[in-house]
Amino acid sequence: MSEHIEYMKIPNCPEHVAIVMDGNGRWAAERGLPRTHGHHRGVERVREIVRAAPSLGVKILTIYAFSTENWHRPDHEVRVLMSLFRRFVVREVDDLETTGVRVRFIGQRERLPGNLRNLMAMMEARTAQCRDLTLQIALNYGARSELVDAVRVLAERVRAGDLDPDAITEAELGANLYTQGLPDPDLIIRTSGEKRLSNFLLWQSAYSEFAFIPECWPDFTAGLFATVLREAAGRERRFGMVKAT
Ligand code: FPP
Repeated sequence: MSEHIEYMKIPNCPEHVAIVMDGNGRWAAERGLPRTHGHHRGVERVREIVRAAPSLGVKILTIYAFSTENWHRPDHEVRVLMSLFRRFVVREVDDLETTGVRVRFIGQRERLPGNLRNLMAMMEARTAQCRDLTLQIALNYGARSELVDAVRVLAERVRAGDLDPDAITEAELGANLYTQGLPDPDLIIRTSGEKRLSNFLLWQSAYSEFAFIPECWPDFTAGLFATVLREAAGRERRFGMVKAT
């Protein structure tokens, strides 16, 4: 990551921000470029947003890089994405470590190429002690399979006699999701004008605020990120209760 721009802390900034980075393909098509060109530009934006996030007051950033449904894309595009993820780890690990970014990957790892899985494990180990920002990267992630995996773990514990079904609470289920140990997202941003969640953080988004941004991901600058955060910071969140007087 090259240049370092300091952004001002935003009062009451959402601490956990999750992003559906949508619109890479359309961004490229609008310019007569191959879809994969949009993904390359998308990586540049990831670097910029990760760099800006802690200065703005974000503590956890979760980004949706590849969904369980994305395997249905053309083989060539999937191969390019896998190679972009590998390159991202190799190129960014030093910088993320020195700038205090802890990386965690969420999703099902088994289907990912072995060399990528090894790089992911290396990046998590190298950055495990970092504290300025937690960057959670959803790779081969699907919220429904996350819930199924959690239910299976609980069911196994019931079968083994280690867990009383009456002891299955919301907290117990949450503690078995891939996102275990992290608070729910305060704000979910989706770029490219689409207004849906697409199997992202279904459980964790129960009380999240949403921001749907018309710009495609390759046009989502740190300045635009700051504007979105500022607007969200001013919202009143009631969590089902009435307004405090
Ligand atoms: C959605 O755009 C984007 C993706 C499926 C891939 C997201 C990946 C990146 C931004 C690459 C970098 C990520 C990391 C962690 C290095 P789309 O292709 O669905 O766009 P479209 O809806 O216009 O077709």
